[in-house]
Amino acid sequence: MKKISVRASREYEVLIGSGLTEKAGELVKQVHAPCRTVIVSDSNVAPLWLDKVKVSLEKAGFTCSEYVFPAGEASKNTAELIKMVEFFAESGLTRTDLVVALGGGVTGDMAGFASAIFLRGIEFVQIPTTLLAMTDSSVGGKTAVDLEAGKNLCGAFHQPSLVICDTDTLSTLPAVEFSGGCAEVIKYGVIRDASLFEALEEGLLESDPAEVIARCVGIKRDVVEADEFDKGERQLLNFGHTAGHAIEKQSNFTLSHGQSVAMGMIIASLAVGKKEIAQRIAALEDKMGLPSACPYTAELLLPWCMSDKKKAGGSLTLVVPEKIGCCILKKIPAEEVLSFLERGLSR
Ligand code: NAD
Ligand code: GLY
Repeated sequence: MKKISVRASREYEVLIGSGLTEKAGELVKQVHAPCRTVIVSDSNVAPLWLDKVKVSLEKAGFTCSEYVFPAGEASKNTAELIKMVEFFAESGLTRTDLVVALGGGVTGDMAGFASAIFLRGIEFVQIPTTLLAMTDSSVGGKTAVDLEAGKNLCGAFHQPSLVICDTDTLSTLPAVEFSGGCAEVIKYGVIRDASLFEALEEGLLESDPAEVIARCVGIKRDVVEADEFDKGERQLLNFGHTAGHAIEKQSNFTLSHGQSVAMGMIIASLAVGKKEIAQRIAALEDKMGLPSACPYTAELLLPWCMSDKKKAGGSLTLVVPEKIGCCILKKIPAEEVLSFLERGLSR
């Protein structure tokens, strides 16, 4: 089992390995005395993995209730959030009790936010079951639900007490969800770690997924420790996401987040003239089942980019690569965004 320590406003460990859902009870007991818990999961993950986690927690002395919501981003809203916290109250959770989020980023974000607001904050444990959630959303304490006005607009920073990544859970993950997570994995290599990028080119994700997850979590940990509250450096994690979010919205979400970010990383690279970087990213994306060519024009993407929440004071902060392993933040005036996109789309 690999172990990565995160020292943010709360200190916690991220555990990565095989067979960890069966050991969840013992692992959680090391950070929290047995208590009442609600295991939150979605309608796809619960039938596959919830029983294992529940049995293990009960064996370790925890009393468990289950809360299962309909799978998918469409559930990540204030109405589902309120149902969840009402269930916490009905289950008799107190300030010293615990929430366990078992699932992908939707489950972790929503159960994490519910834990942040219930009784003004109770502890929660993340058991991520998608590649995206293991490498990104379960670590760093960003929790949220979506509003009509946009994604993740209602949330809080609330760090988990423990993150348990059982690589076995990836065995049931649909291929399209796995490749979506690969976009975030590639992102880590480009923003911070050329050797990770090269290892991915050589097939490390296929041969040793736990090692790749650990290296991604290590990068995320470093960025979060440097800028927990997203005032500067943490924005590097948005590489490919400004154009990516625009593509996702323009496609009316028929293109997934991962597919859109994959295209967004190519746009951000070409926009600053880094053709070789774009070619290497595109080759890796192709190998991982991700598209790299964006089907939309700059004119179609522009309004979505300008409504992105990262726009501030008439300018947009973009993440662009200098070389594989090093990205920088580049603030550009609103009137230059169209030409940025045009350059990014000319291949
Ligand atoms: P998700 O939670 O919707 O999971 C994707 C799909 O896979 C769902 O249908 C789910 O039911 C299914 N699934 C999950 N694990 C499974 C498994 N092991 N076996 C079978 N099916 C499984 O989505 P996601 O891609 O994990 O996360 C996306 C969400 O994460 C978005 O809401 C995004 O905003 C959020 N996010 C948050 C952060 C953060 O820092 N908090 C970072 C990145 C993304
Ligand atoms: N995934 C973006 C962040 O955690 O900041």
